[in-house]
Amino acid sequence: MKTLHWVDHYYSEGDVLARGDHELYFQPRRIELEVELTLKALRDNSSVPGSYLNLACGPNVQCLLKLLKALPLHTAVCADINPSFVKFISDAFEKSPYTSSAKTRFEVADMRLTFLYGQKFDLISLYGNSFGYFEHSINQRILEQCHRLLNTGGMLALTTVNHDMVARQTPENAMSWRNDVMTPHGPAVRYSTRYFNSADNRSICNFETRLGNDVIESGVRDLFIYPYETVGLLPSLSQMALEAKFSRTRRLPLPINDETFGLMKHLDLITFEK
Ligand SMILES: C[S@@+](CC[C@H](N)C(=O)[O-])C[C@H]1O[C@@H](n2cnc3c(N)ncnc32)[C@H](O)[C@@H]1O
Repeated sequence: MKTLHWVDHYYSEGDVLARGDHELYFQPRRIELEVELTLKALRDNSSVPGSYLNLACGPNVQCLLKLLKALPLHTAVCADINPSFVKFISDAFEKSPYTSSAKTRFEVADMRLTFLYGQKFDLISLYGNSFGYFEHSINQRILEQCHRLLNTGGMLALTTVNHDMVARQTPENAMSWRNDVMTPHGPAVRYSTRYFNSADNRSICNFETRLGNDVIESGVRDLFIYPYETVGLLPSLSQMALEAKFSRTRRLPLPINDETFGLMKHLDLITFEK
């Protein structure tokens, strides 16, 4: 399987506000749904985490604030590969009126490498469809690293686009949508088309951002969308979890979210327990 090169530069550099898809990060409803379902999964397990890692946190502080409020956390760490996102979320936390006794840190970290060495958490979140960007063996390694970073009894909660819905988007039946975006140059329109390559589990996204008649950004991106259960010979999330030595995995569908666009309307929360 080939390495997915776009992600190597797309996220590791640049300014969130200059991006055509920056509004993905500032979706209060999506984040609210992700946090609420995670809290429900924790309640189902009678689990009360004291330490939390917001992995691939992005620039938005909302998720951290919600979890600080809902849980008796003594430690919270937000980590992302993009230094400008880390600064953005850290500044937003400083400015927020919310005060907490939890020790809160913001770190630049690459989840493909060994990161946050020697630290352990009770809860790790990987929200906003932040899993599957890399080649399969690296995605597997990320799950293994999350297992290493969890205390026994801890939980990884990640959100992913619903596989069945993605699998319907063939090249002949591709899903297309447009959304208005605000860029530093002014209001623009972003056109996206998605289809699924069932031979290797990749969802292909073609996109173009137009400001009037000018194309200011365009490209093709791909990411793995894993089924939860095994389909044919393709790797599944439940299989990957077993390999990473998680003791239990669950798929919890999130309610359809009409406040976002395209495939992000249908997310699943997958919980991995150590
Ligand atoms: C789709 S965004 C989701 C952000 C946030 N979790 C949310 O729900 O809004 C994906 C995030 O993954 C981060 N990311 C990408 N590659 C990463 C890596 N190798 N290590 C850590 N973070 C990474 C990006 O910088 C970006 O913030």
